[in-house]
Amino acid sequence: MHVEVYNDRKTASRRIVDLVARQLSAYPYSVLGLATGATVIPIYEEMIQRINHAHLDLSRVHTFNLDEYMGLKDPNRHSFHAFMRHYLFDPAHLSPDQTFFPFPQFSQDPPGYDRLIEQHGGIDWQLLGIGHNGHIGFNEPGTSFDSETHVVKLTENTRKANRNWFDGDWRHVPEEALTMGLKTIMRSRTIVLAAFGASKSAILAKAVHGPVCVEVPASILQYHPRVYIICDQEAGNLLRPGPSLNSSKLSRQFDV
Ligand code: F6R
Repeated sequence: MHVEVYNDRKTASRRIVDLVARQLSAYPYSVLGLATGATVIPIYEEMIQRINHAHLDLSRVHTFNLDEYMGLKDPNRHSFHAFMRHYLFDPAHLSPDQTFFPFPQFSQDPPGYDRLIEQHGGIDWQLLGIGHNGHIGFNEPGTSFDSETHVVKLTENTRKANRNWFDGDWRHVPEEALTMGLKTIMRSRTIVLAAFGASKSAILAKAVHGPVCVEVPASILQYHPRVYIICDQEAGNLLRPGPSLNSSKLSRQFDV
């Protein structure tokens, strides 16, 4: 795992957009895997700024979002689709035929989402956040490492963590979602996991340094050959360089 710790989330977000810009200048037709949530907002804001200054071009990409709620009362307001339109797709002028979600199209055939991804050549560059319980996508603790896109029952903790998007009432957060599985995510060629804020430091350290186990779904990323962990100081304060590295040279940028 390649770890980079930045002073603040704005600088870290710039670095993440540098990485996607590098991907897109090499392969403008890249397939991007995208996440929602508080972590990715400064990243999408940075992308929009660069698009507006013609320093980034998303016009030829296809995007696949990690997950989507099921059974929403007001999808226009609360869906991840609405989130993506607001923060990225509309300001970046992405058309609906470039952007894919697992729900509702694949509610009867969840693995069909994996097949659609493969038909587009697979995910080249996957952006992830991490939940306080170590989830990636909505793969909650206990999810099989062998999972493809599937329906999940969200834990109470995850619903509480997402209550701010539902006027503060966690009972309005849906109980179910469709999510890419851990195997789906692991098939991506490059993975960039972003983590910001002190509340993520303990789980990030477990994911990076702890044993690879289903109790910490993000720990599976230790098995991926090309993962960037990009975080701010607060989230990264329990991370330490691996034993094989000269830490005097790489105090805050290291491989694990
Ligand atoms: C969202 C997703 C989740 C979030 C995670 C972190 O599409 O897949 O795994 O990335 O819950 O959420 P925030 O960024 O809100 O802390």
